[in-house]
Amino acid sequence: MILKIVKYPEPVLEQAGEVVTEFNDELRKFIANLFETMYASQGIGLAAQQVGVPKRVTVIDLSQGKDPEQKLVLVNPTVIHREGKQYEEEGCLSFPEIREKISRAAKVKVRAQNEKGEWFEMDGEELLSRAFQHEIDHLDGILFIFRMSALKRNLNLRKIRKLQSEGKW
Ligand code: NI
Repeated sequence: MILKIVKYPEPVLEQAGEVVTEFNDELRKFIANLFETMYASQGIGLAAQQVGVPKRVTVIDLSQGKDPEQKLVLVNPTVIHREGKQYEEEGCLSFPEIREKISRAAKVKVRAQNEKGEWFEMDGEELLSRAFQHEIDHLDGILFIFRMSALKRNLNLRKIRKLQSEGKW
């Protein structure tokens, strides 16, 4: 089922997610819906907050549905190691039309549970590292505009207000 993606400034986007403790069919159905919703919007990552659910669940697929091996489910994830720097353009399904360069760690290691509740660790570099950091930020209620310089953030907030006033947001 395709869920509705909420846009900034929906308050749930700035809410930290609750830790998931039940690994049941309801969770697995929710995860399947997150993938379906993400693919329908051509995204490479989607966090629960973006469909209005403040829980620590996110999905990532850099192949956008083309390679089943790249489907990643992260439940209760944390970044346990960061290394280096990268500065590349980033977007977010909750901020359509906004793209901005954001500074992130070049490499990260994450620790998370899968949809069955099993813990695993995974390394990511480049785009995958960026996706891990962007999505785990969502689970903490942190949005990419808050990772921009104040100048860029204000320019983008102004752009959003203009789009809102034109009924295009
Ligand atoms: Ni996002």
